[in-house]
Amino acid sequence: MPVLFQLCYNSVANDEEGWMDVMIHTKVWKIDQIKSDWHVQLAQPAALLSAGKQIAFPTETVYGLGADARSEEAVRGIFSAKGRPSDNPLIVHIYDRSQVHELTNCTNELAERLMDQFWPGPLTLILPVRQGVLSNQVTAGLQTVGLRMPDHPIALELMRQAAVPIAAPSANTSGRPSPTLASHVLDDLQGKIEGIVDGGATGVGLESTVVEVSGQHIQILRPGGVTVEQLQACCPEASVTLETELESKEAPRSPGMKYTHYAPQGKLVIVKGESAAVSQYIVQQVTMHAAENKCGVLCFKENAHHYEQADLVLSLGSVNQLEQAASRLYEALRKFDEYGVTRIWSEASTTEGIGAAFMNRLLKAAGHNVINL
Ligand code: TXA
Ligand code: MG
Repeated sequence: MPVLFQLCYNSVANDEEGWMDVMIHTKVWKIDQIKSDWHVQLAQPAALLSAGKQIAFPTETVYGLGADARSEEAVRGIFSAKGRPSDNPLIVHIYDRSQVHELTNCTNELAERLMDQFWPGPLTLILPVRQGVLSNQVTAGLQTVGLRMPDHPIALELMRQAAVPIAAPSANTSGRPSPTLASHVLDDLQGKIEGIVDGGATGVGLESTVVEVSGQHIQILRPGGVTVEQLQACCPEASVTLETELESKEAPRSPGMKYTHYAPQGKLVIVKGESAAVSQYIVQQVTMHAAENKCGVLCFKENAHHYEQADLVLSLGSVNQLEQAASRLYEALRKFDEYGVTRIWSEASTTEGIGAAFMNRLLKAAGHNVINL
């Protein structure tokens, strides 16, 4: 019988004072938002951020690894903890709309409308950067900066207390799935960063949508938490296009999109087609490879019962609840590694709504290895 996993969220235990030393350098502050004084517990991580240290914190998408976006040294610490290539720029997180004009020369009416509609929220806008206000490493030499205001009370309060713009990529080792739990951050960065603010599981579970706006055109450089349909509804007069449609013709304009991402250690193949045929094909493959491999299946709840012969079956929930599937994807990819799975077959979703971001990340994790039935 396979291990049929109920994907769930655990948090790191804490001591009476609200934080514990996990290793010599990495502290964990567990924030319980039910307590009336939760914001007081953010004083220490906020002070460390102001002092140029690297602190991971939850956002509504994934955990971010933050540092003062104005300081070369603080930002260098982010790149070295993650092992991130220096030509991949960082998103700057803000807590107040006035920071847009402190940091950028934004004059586009459509961009302002997107901020009105989707901030705080999972939308990053690429805007012309004001010279001299941010570390050069944040922009990786580009004339633009990605800005976003996260929709998470802990992130907003932490930044408000630190009172500096915060550069924050996802808080994973470069190439690994983004963290949706504080324990994922610990797995990757323990001993490499000053601390982690543990606010429990993130919501969306996939990163923000990255857009560049010029005139009446919205170019999606990375699909994410805000969907194409939502962008189009907000700006009916604008043309909205997805970078993936251009990928084969020109180099991606969001540098991060060219790197290998999220790939589990086992070989992952996506199987597309009519549902019964997909299940039948996966069962055949598992049977064929079971002798020499630890076989895993990533699927929707409706089909999970077909895959009894696999060693590890991870159900993402119902095929009709893609938001839930999106929130569980990265945890599932990490679980396959934890269990030493060597071959993985995955079902596919539609590309409507959040499905566009879900399939974008799944395809990257599979190195675009797809079987079309
Ligand atoms: O949801 C999110 O966006 C999370 C949370 C922590 O906020 N952050 C995140 O950051 O996903 P990161 O660094 O993992 O991904 C940022 C993406 C990369 O693909 C990067 O290349 C792109 O945004 N990017 C950043 N600045 C850019 C710029 N000026 N021009 C084009 N792309 C940019
Ligand atoms: Mg990332």
